[in-house]
Amino acid sequence: MANWSAHDPSGKAVAGRSAYLILHNTSEVVTPDAEGQRILRTPKGAIVFMNGRVLEVGDVGELTRRHPDARPLNANGKLVTPGLVDCHTHMIFGGHRALEFQQKTQGVPYAEIAAKGGGIRSTVNATAAVRDDVLEKTLAIRLERWRANGCTTVEVKSGYGLEPRRELRLLELMGGAAIRVPVRVHRTALLLHALPPDYEGRRREYVEEMAGPVLTEVHRRGMASAIDVFCDPVAFTVEECRLVLERARALELPIKLHAEQMQHFGGAALAAELGARSADHLESATESDWRALAAAGTVGVLLPAAALTLRQRLPDAAMLRASGARVAVATDFNPGTAPAQSLMECAALAARLCGFTAEEALMSVTWNAAKALGAQAEVGHLSPGSWGDAVLWECETLEELPYWMPAVRPDTVFMRGADLALPAVERRVWP
Ligand code: NIG
Ligand code: FE
Repeated sequence: MANWSAHDPSGKAVAGRSAYLILHNTSEVVTPDAEGQRILRTPKGAIVFMNGRVLEVGDVGELTRRHPDARPLNANGKLVTPGLVDCHTHMIFGGHRALEFQQKTQGVPYAEIAAKGGGIRSTVNATAAVRDDVLEKTLAIRLERWRANGCTTVEVKSGYGLEPRRELRLLELMGGAAIRVPVRVHRTALLLHALPPDYEGRRREYVEEMAGPVLTEVHRRGMASAIDVFCDPVAFTVEECRLVLERARALELPIKLHAEQMQHFGGAALAAELGARSADHLESATESDWRALAAAGTVGVLLPAAALTLRQRLPDAAMLRASGARVAVATDFNPGTAPAQSLMECAALAARLCGFTAEEALMSVTWNAAKALGAQAEVGHLSPGSWGDAVLWECETLEELPYWMPAVRPDTVFMRGADLALPAVERRVWP
C-alpha cells in the first residue's frame, strides 16, 4: 500500500545488545506462517535473529551448527510466539469514567449516558484539560505497558478531540509518544466519532469539514496510516461515513470502521463495499455481513472487553469459521467501554465467549491483527525476513495462553531481535 511505507514506524532506531542472536532451549516456537494460513509449531525450536529480522526458525541442533557466531540466549524451556499486535485502541485520552461504569452495570443504556453529557464528550473535555506534555508522556507510559504485556505493534486512534484542531493535536502527540518507546505505533485518525457541542445543529458542516480540510491536512502531513469512522445510530450515518471514507480512499489512505456495535446499521456492508482494512466491533453483525467481509478480504475485529462492558454477545466461532472471514481480537482500550489493558486477557475472553481454539486465539492477535493494519508482510509472524518482534512467555505450551486469567505474562519481549528491558513494575503507573 503506497502510504504504509511513508508512515512505517519500524525505521525507528531500537537499541539492541546484539544484532545476531540465537534463542534456544524453548519449549516450542509457535507462529502463524507467512501467509497466515496456519499455525506452525516447532517443539524445542530455535530462532536466529539478525539485523533486527528473523533469519531462520527451526531445529535447535541444526541452527546452532549453522550459526556458531550468533549470541546464544537461553529461553529456559518456555514458549515463544510473535510479538502481539493490538490493532484497535483509543489510547490517547485524559481522565477515566469509572462513575459512568457504575451506571452501565446498573443497566443505563450507552445512548442515554451519552445524551446526558457523559460518554465520549466527557472524555473529550477531560482530554482537552490535560497539558500536551502530560498527554504525550501518559501515552508513552501506556505503550510501554502494552509492550510489557506482549504487544510489539499497537494501533492508536485519535477521536477524543472531535474539533478539527483538537483531533490534529492528538495525532501530533501520538507521533511524539511513538518516537519515545520501542513499540511499533500505527496512528489512525478517527475522524467521525461524535458531534462536538459547537457543531450542534450543523452536522453536515462538521462532516464536510472532517472529510475535506481535516482529512487533507492529515494526509499532507503524513499524520495517520489509516482513517476510521464510528458508524452507528449514536454516532454517524452510513452516508456520512461513506463521504469521509470515499475521500480517504481517493487519497489512497486505508480505511476502517466501527461498525454494527450498538445496533445493526449497515457499517459492515459499507466496509465490504469500500474494501476497508477492517470492520471493528460487529456485536450486531449478521452472518451475511461476515460473509461479505470474508469476500472483501476485510478483517473482522472483535472487542470482547467492550462487549462485556455493554453486556453484549460475541459471535460464535462456528459461524465465524463457516463465513471464511479473518477474525482479529483487540483491546479497544478506552475509558468508556473498554478499560482493558491486556490483549492476551482479551484473547482469553474471546476464547471463552466465542469458542476459539488456542490456535485461533493466537492467530487473532498476531497475523490477523497485523492484516487489519496492513502490516502482515512485516509483523504478526516469525518467518524469515519478518521483524524480529517476539515474546518469550512465562508458560510452556500454546494452550496455556488463552487458559490462564489473569493472562500469562511475558518473560522477555524482543523488538527487532533485541531483548530490551521491560519497564520496571514501579514505572507501570496507573492507568
Ligand atoms: O470503540 N464505539 C466508539 N468508540 C469507543 C467508545 C468510546 C467511548 O465510549 O468513549 C469504542 O467502544
Ligand atoms: Fe473503538
